[in-house]
Amino acid sequence: MCHRGRVADNTLRIKPVVNADRPALGRFIASRWGLTVIVHGTVFRPAELPGLVAVRDGRLAGLLTYDIDGDSLEIVTLDAVTPNGGVGSALVTAIADEARRRQVRRLIVITTNDNLDALRFYQRREFRLAAVRPGAVEESRRLKPQINEIGCYDIPIRDEIELVRDLAYGG
Ligand SMILES: CC(C)(COP(=O)(O)OP(=O)(O)OC[C@H]1O[C@@H](n2cnc3c(N)ncnc32)[C@H](O)[C@@H]1OP(=O)(O)O)[C@@H](O)C(=O)NCCC(=O)NCCS
Repeated sequence: MCHRGRVADNTLRIKPVVNADRPALGRFIASRWGLTVIVHGTVFRPAELPGLVAVRDGRLAGLLTYDIDGDSLEIVTLDAVTPNGGVGSALVTAIADEARRRQVRRLIVITTNDNLDALRFYQRREFRLAAVRPGAVEESRRLKPQINEIGCYDIPIRDEIELVRDLAYGG
């Protein structure tokens, strides 16, 4: 019998976060978002939230964390390690499936006014603009002074934009 080298598995797998994942995922989240995410005046600790992790060839490819409140599921963080490879789309599809299993009616996500890539991404994935909160990030900065002043495309980060995707149920 000959020894074969390890075969790379490029399949993207999505699985729920389990406690054993949390130390590594906590470091990943901290590198992207810090310890807290503040949206609509709520302080989230994404490392402690339920989540879906995307893994390719044994390596972290992406992470989505969320919070369920009543009949809404809010995406708190969504990150692809390498953008434009389908990881974000796969995580959004998976969380929509999970939300339907839990009979949740809508997905919510808050992004900031500078994040044009996210605005494009979500609108291309059935999310619609639901609210704009001028100055909301300036308020959040009082609680979390580390929030950058300048964001993507050198745009000052000031406002929250809420997007909602209503989930269709068959029958
Ligand atoms: C926003 C974000 C999560 C999107 O994730 P992503 O993995 O880049 O998203 P995808 O790759 O699925 O889709 C992005 C584009 O890449 C394209 N794409 C997907 N797979 C591809 C592939 N294999 N080859 C080439 N292009 C591909 C998609 O078609 C998509 O374009 P479209 O919107 O015109 O359809 C990611 O850019 C990110 O981590 N951003 C930083 C954090 C952030 O801002 N998060 C959002 C706020 S919570």
